[in-house]
Amino acid sequence: MIIAIDGPAASGKGTLGKRLAEHYGFAHLDTGLLYRAVARVLMDRDIPLADQAAATEVAQNLDVSHLEDDSRLRGAAMGEAASVVSAYQPVRDALLAFQRQFGVKASGAVLDGRDIGTVVCPDAEVKLFITAAPEERARRRHRELLSRGEQAEYETILVDIRRRDERDMTRSTAPLKAAADAVTLDTTHLDADGAFRAALAIVERKR
Ligand code: C5P
Repeated sequence: MIIAIDGPAASGKGTLGKRLAEHYGFAHLDTGLLYRAVARVLMDRDIPLADQAAATEVAQNLDVSHLEDDSRLRGAAMGEAASVVSAYQPVRDALLAFQRQFGVKASGAVLDGRDIGTVVCPDAEVKLFITAAPEERARRRHRELLSRGEQAEYETILVDIRRRDERDMTRSTAPLKAAADAVTLDTTHLDADGAFRAALAIVERKR
């Protein structure tokens, strides 16, 4: 069984994906980490993010082990940079097989990202589209960055989130959008427990 979770930046889909995977004993893949890792390699090598050919080569040779343990990947700068390289079709193509195999190899898997229900796992048994108002997502991201000891301004984060939404939704390749058969869950007024319970109810209905 595959649970596909898509949604915009800081919507809570990562936390939710992790909890659903733990609940069912499924494998979990945060696919945003793949794009963040590509951006990170480019930045470490001082290669401009605009260099599509270099980004593609990095994606083709990406070491996908231990991404979960790399805390630098989760910073705000890497999210922004990931959204630039993720708009390149050859980069997406290079990362597609790994994501698909992840879903197939495990007996149960939760994948979260932007295009899981639409492109990576169009046949997923359950598709969730997680949303929340940009102001609420900015508040959550602000709290998260402060708790990790990063410098962060709420207003700057809100601007970043709006820009990232715009870029992810309007790009020509695999834009962020709910699959036709996805169930949308608005978590603006839900805490993490509330979102988990609501998502669980949706998954149980589909199982
Ligand atoms: O979810 P996260 O914030 O880690 O994603 C970082 C960026 O990677 C997103 O803004 C998006 O541009 C890109 N991404 C994507 N497709 C995915 C996951 C992430 O394009 N499946």
